[in-house]
Amino acid sequence: MTTVDQRTPAELAEAERYTAHNYHPLPVVVAEGEGAWVTDVDGRRYLDFLAGYSALNFGHRHPELIAAAHAQLDRVTLTSRAFVHDQFAAFCRSLAELCGKELVLPMNTGAEAVETAIKVARKWGYQVKGVENERAEIIVAADNFHGRTTTIVSFSTDPEARADFGPYTPGFVVVPYGDLVALAAAVTPNTVAVLLEPIQGEAGVLVPPTGYFAGVRELCTAQNVLMIADEIQSGLGRTGRTFAIEHEGVVPDMYVLGKALGGGIVPVSAVAADRDVLGVLKPGEHGSTFGGNPLACAVGHEVVRLLATGEFQKRSAELGERLHARLGELVGRGLVAVRGRGLWAGVDLDPALMTGRRACELLAERGVLAKDTHGSTIRLAPPLVVTEAEIDHAVDQLAAILAEAV
Ligand SMILES: Cc1ncc(COP(=O)(O)O)c(C=O)c1O
Repeated sequence: MTTVDQRTPAELAEAERYTAHNYHPLPVVVAEGEGAWVTDVDGRRYLDFLAGYSALNFGHRHPELIAAAHAQLDRVTLTSRAFVHDQFAAFCRSLAELCGKELVLPMNTGAEAVETAIKVARKWGYQVKGVENERAEIIVAADNFHGRTTTIVSFSTDPEARADFGPYTPGFVVVPYGDLVALAAAVTPNTVAVLLEPIQGEAGVLVPPTGYFAGVRELCTAQNVLMIADEIQSGLGRTGRTFAIEHEGVVPDMYVLGKALGGGIVPVSAVAADRDVLGVLKPGEHGSTFGGNPLACAVGHEVVRLLATGEFQKRSAELGERLHARLGELVGRGLVAVRGRGLWAGVDLDPALMTGRRACELLAERGVLAKDTHGSTIRLAPPLVVTEAEIDHAVDQLAAILAEAV
């Protein structure tokens, strides 16, 4: 072993010593990334099959996104929203057009965008729907993941995410995901919104039954309730369409976007809705120092331009078929189920063989990065620039660790 080979343990030990332990990372210390690949501090290369939980849909350092960021770094990076800058209108217009909505409101992280959607829905409920003050209810799904703020964890059903962070924000009603009858039964005159992930990522890439979202749309329209789709992880090409909800043939009242909107460079999130919804916000009622900053807008605009070509959605749909076909061959050979859409898969391992964590450790040793969730499930979500050969290589590594364990 050379001295170079010893950087990984030292970096891990220092990180462990000086940081709060709110994550349990795999023992890989990344130094560089390009496309679907990263290289660690000791020169080992890995195929990145997590892609920043979909924040890296365009891969690491996509040349056009990096060029947009560089150009903006040389001009102006931050103004605050106290002034307007010359990247703002163009980004917001392009994003509104991509979403087919009249207005957008840019923020930074996904959780902030979800908080924005909640605030807008409540305000819409009081001012437009006429719900009595302080009585607004928002219906969410069990096993949801919408972020980590105190309000958002208030309606999480995951004890790890929620326990010991109370007192909790009231005004949320939880129903089982995919159960239209339960959802309909939960609607009251005070319901202002239904907030759902089109595919539940953190829960294990759960795809709801066909027709569920068409039913949600019909119910929301009939009951004058806003339908909010949290597309932070599922959207922007991940499933083979711009939005995962498109597979269901419905249009929500509000999209919540994040992750890939920042091109893997800066945190950029947003909500998009028509004027009758987003127009309820007036100056001084909501905002963020960094939301919609020039660097974010320059990168976000380039992200929208890339998506508008349709190339990434097409790649995700076509290569997704390959990924799912190859993973499907492993069902009964170490896997018990595979779910998902496009380049997004939730893979249930036979729990008798190993945990999801162990599988991810073994995959990392074989040069593939993935993330476990809920015991024996792993999530695969490569950047949309991945090639067919790279997909085959990653699945071959999974097949190998399963074969060794059987
Ligand atoms: C569906 C969904 N909503 C919201 C969030 C929160 O986003 P952020 O971590 O940027 O706050 C996530 C993050 O994983 C997510 O997957």
